[in-house]
Amino acid sequence: MEIDQSVCIVTGASSGIGAATARLLSGLGARVVLAARRTDRLEALAAELAGSLAVTTDVTVAEQVHRLVDRTVDAYGRVDALVNNAGQGLHVPLEELDPADLRAVFELNVVAPLVGMQAVLPVMRAGSGGAVVNVSSATSLRVFPGLGGYSATKAALNMLSQVGRLELADAGVTVSVVYPSVTATEFHSRLRAGHLVSGARRITPDPPELVGQAIAFALRSGEAHVLVRDPPLPIVPGESEGWGALLARQAPGAASTPALHEPDGNPGGRPSEGGGGGHPR
Ligand SMILES: NC(=O)c1ccc[n+]([C@@H]2O[C@H](COP(=O)([O-])OP(=O)(O)OC[C@H]3O[C@@H](n4cnc5c(N)ncnc54)[C@H](OP(=O)(O)O)[C@@H]3O)[C@@H](O)[C@H]2O)c1
Repeated sequence: MEIDQSVCIVTGASSGIGAATARLLSGLGARVVLAARRTDRLEALAAELAGSLAVTTDVTVAEQVHRLVDRTVDAYGRVDALVNNAGQGLHVPLEELDPADLRAVFELNVVAPLVGMQAVLPVMRAGSGGAVVNVSSATSLRVFPGLGGYSATKAALNMLSQVGRLELADAGVTVSVVYPSVTATEFHSRLRAGHLVSGARRITPDPPELVGQAIAFALRSGEAHVLVRDPPLPIVPGESEGWGALLARQAPGAASTPALHEPDGNPGGRPSEGGGGGHPR
C-alpha cells in the first residue's frame, strides 16, 4: 500500500515500537490514529504529529476496539492499515507460569489483535482493501527456555496471521507479521512476570525505529513475514533452511486453501497440496 495520505491505526502507540512507528508513518505522510491506555502520552504524541488522532483504548476490551475504529472512520472516512503492536512479555519458566498471567497475556497478544482485525475488516472490505501488520517476536521462531508463555502467545499470533492472510486475500487485505528481536523500549521493565532472560542480555537491543522501518516495509510491500534487520528482511515460509524453515509453509494462493487429508498410507489419503509434503498432525 501507499503510506502517504493513508489512514493507519497503531496500537501500543504510547511508547516504544508503537510510538516510533507512529512517528515514522506520520513522517511518510500517513494520518496516524494512536491507541493505548495512557492518554497523556498519546495526547503528547498527537500534538507532535500533524493530522493524527489520539484515542485512549484498552485493546483487551472489544467495545473499546470497535470505538477506536468508529472514531477513525468518523475522523477520516476510512481505515487503510492496522498495526497490532500493543503487547506484553511473560518471561518465566513453565514451572512458575501462573495460568492467570498466561490468560491475561493471551488476551492482549492474541485475542486483541484478532478483535482488531475483525473490527477493521468491514471498513476495509467496504473500501479498497487494506493492510494489517501484527507485531510478533523472533522468540516465536525458536525455542527459548524461560519464554514459553510469551512465545506461545506470539506463535499463536503468527498462525492467526497466516490463516488470516489467506482468508482475507479476496477482500484485498494483506496480513503481515513483523518479528522484532530484543528492542530498546519499556518492554522488559513492564513484563507481566519474570525478567529479561540471560541470553538476551548479551544482545545489543535494536532501536525501536528499526522495528518501525520493518513495519513500514511490511505495509508497503505486503510481505507475509518480515524480520527486523537493516534493511528489513522478508522471510519465505517453508525454505529448507534459515528463518523460513521455522515457519509453517503457506498454501499457494489465497483461494486454494488445501483440504485436510488423511495421513499417508491411509486408503483414500492423497498427497498434501501446497508443496509442504506434510499433513496436519
Ligand atoms: N521490546 C522488545 O524487546 C520486543 C521484542 C519482540 C517483540 N516485541 C513486541 O513489540 C510490541 C511493542 O512492544 P514494545 O517493545 O514497544 O514495548 P512497550 O514500550 O512496553 O510498549 C507496549 C505498548 O503496548 C501498550 N499496551 C499494553 N497493554 C495494552 C492494552 N491493554 N491496551 C492498549 N495498549 C496496551 C502500552 O501502552 P499503555 O500501557 O499506555 O496501554 C505500550 O504502548 C509488543 O507486541 C511486544 O511483544 C518487543
